[in-house]
Amino acid sequence: MKKLSVVLPTYNEKANIESTIEKVMQQGKNLPGWEIYVVIVDDIRSSDETEKIVKSLVSKNHKIFFIKGEPGLGVALISGHKFALEKIHPDVLSQIDADGQVVTDVLVRLVHAIEEGYDLAIGSRFVEGGKNQLSIGRRIFTYGASLFCRIMMGPFNIKEFTNSARAFTPELFNKINLKRLPWKETTFIVGPAFLHEAILAGAKYKEVPLVFKNRMEGYSKNKVFNYTYDVVTYCIDSRLKSLGFDFPLYRLSRRAKTVVKFGLVGIIGTLVDFFFYKMFIIYLGLAPATSKGFSTEVAIINNFILNNFWTFKYRKTKTNIWQKFGIFNLVSLGGLIIGVLIVKFLHGYYGDGFVDLGFRKLAYNNFYFFATIPFVMIWNFTVNHFITWKNEED
Ligand code: GDD
Ligand code: MN
Repeated sequence: MKKLSVVLPTYNEKANIESTIEKVMQQGKNLPGWEIYVVIVDDIRSSDETEKIVKSLVSKNHKIFFIKGEPGLGVALISGHKFALEKIHPDVLSQIDADGQVVTDVLVRLVHAIEEGYDLAIGSRFVEGGKNQLSIGRRIFTYGASLFCRIMMGPFNIKEFTNSARAFTPELFNKINLKRLPWKETTFIVGPAFLHEAILAGAKYKEVPLVFKNRMEGYSKNKVFNYTYDVVTYCIDSRLKSLGFDFPLYRLSRRAKTVVKFGLVGIIGTLVDFFFYKMFIIYLGLAPATSKGFSTEVAIINNFILNNFWTFKYRKTKTNIWQKFGIFNLVSLGGLIIGVLIVKFLHGYYGDGFVDLGFRKLAYNNFYFFATIPFVMIWNFTVNHFITWKNEED
């Protein structure tokens, strides 16, 4: 008998996992000569009874295996295959969503494609016989994502890049450059990226039809903004590489995500700062440098709240919120001193003048204010990144 291993990634799938395992096992009758083994890789963040349900099945059936995985779909899939290679020694490796959205008979077609001599079989909603039974919005999204991958990254003759349902030979899996594959990240980029790396490893591939249904139970873990951001940067990155430009666009863009958010908070904070700076000068008659001191204090509170609950939300720090607020104030005090010194220097040097724009006069103090921004921003990001919201895992 030949062995087929099926990796099922789960993250809070208590409502679907038992029936999915059952439906996968049932495909055995359509695959004479094959034995089906199942590896469930449950995310360590799963908080429902997925683990309990699967463990009780494991105790009754030696063809079902259960392991826990670090966070992320990529980790679940890759560590599941590694586990299968070590413990099951399958002839064919495969994977499929565990939430019941993919009709499991695709496994039969995937295995047949490998038997025909291909080393990679891709489940596809976009070949004849395939169906995507989602809402119109999500259909456009999946089609668009795959179309972007086809055009930017290629090969163009593959129609489905994003769905997980695939089968491949152990030989192909062992040839894939896992160091380059971004499988440890908690986004769904592993779908298109695995395909790309398989092609680079010389895969002989075939697409087989797949039917994708609406989710009946549980919730989707895909994050549309993050996924789109990653697909776009990954595809451009791979295209640049194929053109000979070895620029780590994907990696840098992922890092830049935090800087981009911090920058947006900075802009909002600057508007708050500037608003109060002008109010204090106009209504309280404060000198520019004094006004800047007070307005900065208002902006600090604004920025702390936004950065803590948005920009750096994902960071696990050793400190609690009040300690972070304390440190943030000290960091900002540094920024405040830099800002005040710059304004004081410029005010001392250029004084209180006006620039005549023709239709109105613009006070010099406006320019003093904006001159502080780049310096204060660089200081703030650097120190907050390395100290205030320092990741515990670093
Ligand atoms: N262990 C683990 N860790 N499993 C995960 C994680 C994770 O972080 N995220 C998702 N899963 C599991 C889910 O439990 C489910 O079995 C499967 O992976 C697919 O996740 P869904 O949350 O159901 O995603 P989807 O159906 O919205 O995503 C579909 O579209 C994506 C993009 O087009 C699927 O077809 C994906 O395969 C596809 O990448
Ligand atoms: Mn799903």
